[in-house]
Amino acid sequence: MKICIINGPNLNILGKREVEIYGKETLEEIMNYTVKKAASNNLGQEIDWMQSNSEAEIINKIHELEDQGYDGLVINPAGLSHTSVCLLDALRSLQIPIAEVHLTNVYKRESYRHRMLTAQAADFIMKGLGKEVYYIALYSLREYHQSENANS
Ligand code: DQA
Repeated sequence: MKICIINGPNLNILGKREVEIYGKETLEEIMNYTVKKAASNNLGQEIDWMQSNSEAEIINKIHELEDQGYDGLVINPAGLSHTSVCLLDALRSLQIPIAEVHLTNVYKRESYRHRMLTAQAADFIMKGLGKEVYYIALYSLREYHQSENANS
């Protein structure tokens, strides 16, 4: 399985940004941890990741995913989760499974974070477990893929 992990706005400043909420680790450290953990647990996935502060860049990447041979998407849309109908529409155009992740439990936070737009296109949603959400998303995509193959 080839998986793309997309990280949205402001996740490039993890480690500096509201550390009492998001912790001290950088996105690069979290991604390296996730890719290593996936490999050592033999998830058998080829994993690419990216981060962008640009909604347009994220949407353009989503449009390319299937042509680029990806079988699954993990996305932390960050603040766009709560605002972007455009991102929701782009995600809805995909046939591949989508796991949306959030480091924090958005439902325990401000009420404007409770409006989950992009999650409406997701097959799985993981939140509130810090960096582990990325690994759990990869694991879920692997299980989903295996059960799909078993049923076909
Ligand atoms: C976040 C939660 C969002 O509400 C917030 O805007 C983020 C990060 C998370 O991972 O917990 O930037 O997606």
